[in-house]
Amino acid sequence: MKIKINENFKNIAQSYLFSEIAHRVSAFQTENPQAKIIRLGIGDVTRPLTRRVVGAMKKASDEMGRAETFRGYAPEHGYDFVRDAVVSHYTEFGVKLDRNEVFISDGAKSDLGNIVDILGTNSILIPDPVYPVYVDSNVMSGRNVTLVPACEENGFLPSPDGITGEGHVIYICSPNNPTGAAYDRAGLSEWVDFAVRTGSLIIFDSAYEAFIEDGDIPHSIYELDGARECAIEICSLSKAAGFTGTRCGFTIVPAELEASGLKLSAMWERRQATKFNGVPYVIQRAAEAALTPEGYAECMENVKYYMENAKMISSLLTGKGIFYTGGKNSPYIWLRCTRGMSSWEFFDYLLNTANVVGTPGAGFGAQGEGFFRLTSFGTHEATAEAVERLDKIL
Ligand code: MLT
Repeated sequence: MKIKINENFKNIAQSYLFSEIAHRVSAFQTENPQAKIIRLGIGDVTRPLTRRVVGAMKKASDEMGRAETFRGYAPEHGYDFVRDAVVSHYTEFGVKLDRNEVFISDGAKSDLGNIVDILGTNSILIPDPVYPVYVDSNVMSGRNVTLVPACEENGFLPSPDGITGEGHVIYICSPNNPTGAAYDRAGLSEWVDFAVRTGSLIIFDSAYEAFIEDGDIPHSIYELDGARECAIEICSLSKAAGFTGTRCGFTIVPAELEASGLKLSAMWERRQATKFNGVPYVIQRAAEAALTPEGYAECMENVKYYMENAKMISSLLTGKGIFYTGGKNSPYIWLRCTRGMSSWEFFDYLLNTANVVGTPGAGFGAQGEGFFRLTSFGTHEATAEAVERLDKIL
């Protein structure tokens, strides 16, 4: 063909981390059809949707089947009923939002990838290791990224100390994917103060907030003074309410955010109106049900279930003296590979000897080399069996 392509695609890994893992696991399964593989790789949930969520979906489906209650295109920023449900959910954290600051999406991944559309050329700071979408989406659109090491020395929670310049775009995920490390109020305030002082924007990924157990860890960045002037928050119901296959999340763009004479909320609204047609009505009703206090309490039963898995895995590692973070305030356990193996060697070792799948730390960035991520999103039975098998080989 004679067309010009987006050459930036030559600068990202040929396949997306989780697609690569799925591919390797499926090749292994084909060669070893008898192997009973336990998947603790991608953070995909296993608990079914809750009773209230399913009830809301059924009711909404019935409405869609009747002329008098049928709905066509949904507003691209979400129906008021679900925007309002998000607003009331945030009051639980002492955060006051306006309905117009809430944008309903089909999940955090899309918004984290798409947010670059409203940003120009900036210094972009992204922790390493981290969820690959931040780096990939910036590189795809030709942006240069500065990686900020998140390593054992800083407890996998880098601070802005030593960072100079202004007008940065800073990505923060807390509780973190993949390390499970979570900023407490003081740690996150350092970033908020830095962003306010330097006219920077924080893109805060709060997809794992439902897993927070400690009181001193903010569920939302807006719990901190100054955050409304410097942060966009992107959240998801995938992990909290089991929506990985249902797809619904939300992005908060406070009215205060403004640059170069334009409000970021108006820009995001305009972007979404052009490129996004909204989340299906049935799904938005499901999200509304998940966000009511009763609905959320049901979802938290599942979160509790997963955290029991996290404890099973962490106890094994503690018992074996293997260094790890996470497993607390987070569904992810981030461990050091044993026997000096690299992340991918360890991946192969676990797959071949225990038929257990995890995620190689190097897939999240260079600093993740020598580390490995296990998720607690399996069933109790599968997790217990994985722990038993790992006990024999670690
Ligand atoms: C993960 O395993 O890191 C997540 O499930 C990926 C995602 O949420 O897209």
